Amino acid sequence: MKRKSKITIWLLAGLCGLLLLTGCDSKEKEGEKKMLRIGVSLYRGDDTFINNIRGELENCAKEYEKEHGVKVTLDIQDAKGSQNTQNNQVERFISLGCDVLCINPVDRTAASAMIEKVMTAEIPVVFFNRQPVEEDMDRWDQLYYVGVVARESAVLQGSIVVDRYREDPKSLDRNGDGVVSYVLLEGESSHQDSLIRTEWSIQTLKDGGVPIEKITGGIANWERSQASALMEQWLEQYPDTIELVVCNNDDMALGAIDAIERAKASGISLVGIDATTPGLEAVRSGKLMGTVSSDKEQYAGAIFTIAAAAAQKEPVPEELSLEEGKYYWSRQEIIVK
Ligand code: GAL
Repeated sequence: MKRKSKITIWLLAGLCGLLLLTGCDSKEKEGEKKMLRIGVSLYRGDDTFINNIRGELENCAKEYEKEHGVKVTLDIQDAKGSQNTQNNQVERFISLGCDVLCINPVDRTAASAMIEKVMTAEIPVVFFNRQPVEEDMDRWDQLYYVGVVARESAVLQGSIVVDRYREDPKSLDRNGDGVVSYVLLEGESSHQDSLIRTEWSIQTLKDGGVPIEKITGGIANWERSQASALMEQWLEQYPDTIELVVCNNDDMALGAIDAIERAKASGISLVGIDATTPGLEAVRSGKLMGTVSSDKEQYAGAIFTIAAAAAQKEPVPEELSLEEGKYYWSRQEIIVK
């Protein structure tokens, strides 16, 4: 009898423990934040690609509100190309009590000051598009990064040209001299994507058997107007010579197209990367031979999902399969007419 009652006491204690635990669980669910304040800082609000991502983030916030019954406040700020301004924005986000930050760093090598601040305030961060250095990313387990694999974008871009050349060499080698003469428009030199895109795009052309010759190249910092000015200069300097313009992004390709149209030049093919809204329009109208799309819905979806999970102190959903528990690489594909 004595032994039996002891067992019963233990069983009851176990059951109480279990109930308490489940109780805790459901309390935690109840305690889930019903309001999320997300601070977003963009390196430049006038960047076309970044603006496309911004639009998708706003859609994600609306969907999350509907699905989860959680009010989401997205506080989106433009750092206008100044790291100092961005540092101040981060301080302001912290003082406003943001639950999580999404940062598109101005200077990817200078993220440590921002990281210092968010670590002290214990606010997780999802960096995107401009990748902080590994040393900074490794400083805390609440730092994440969303972007695309630069080499993949470049190989896809190069293969647009390779495919076209294999189909119809004359469509690129317009003057029939056996080589495709090209110029290169590059993004910011400090951006992790610029160098890799340039290198692998050209390597893919070589590997694919396209006989190429570089005329010249220049940095236009992702910008349409800067690219347009460079292209205008090259068209004057090398009349009737340029057959291909390899551009690190769509905006620079559009700038080159502007210059080509102004100069009334013809027979020049162009490739871009991003598949921005105006970039896609240029592909549709045949002005741009092709571009590489990073799936913006997936890209922004990943930023938002990681941010919301981190803000709710929940694990990031497994289906995102974060590399090293912190990096998410968004899918890319070729877009041609
Ligand atoms: C690149 C993109 C560019 C520009 C840049 C800004 O990935 O291709 O168009 O948006 O990011 O960091």
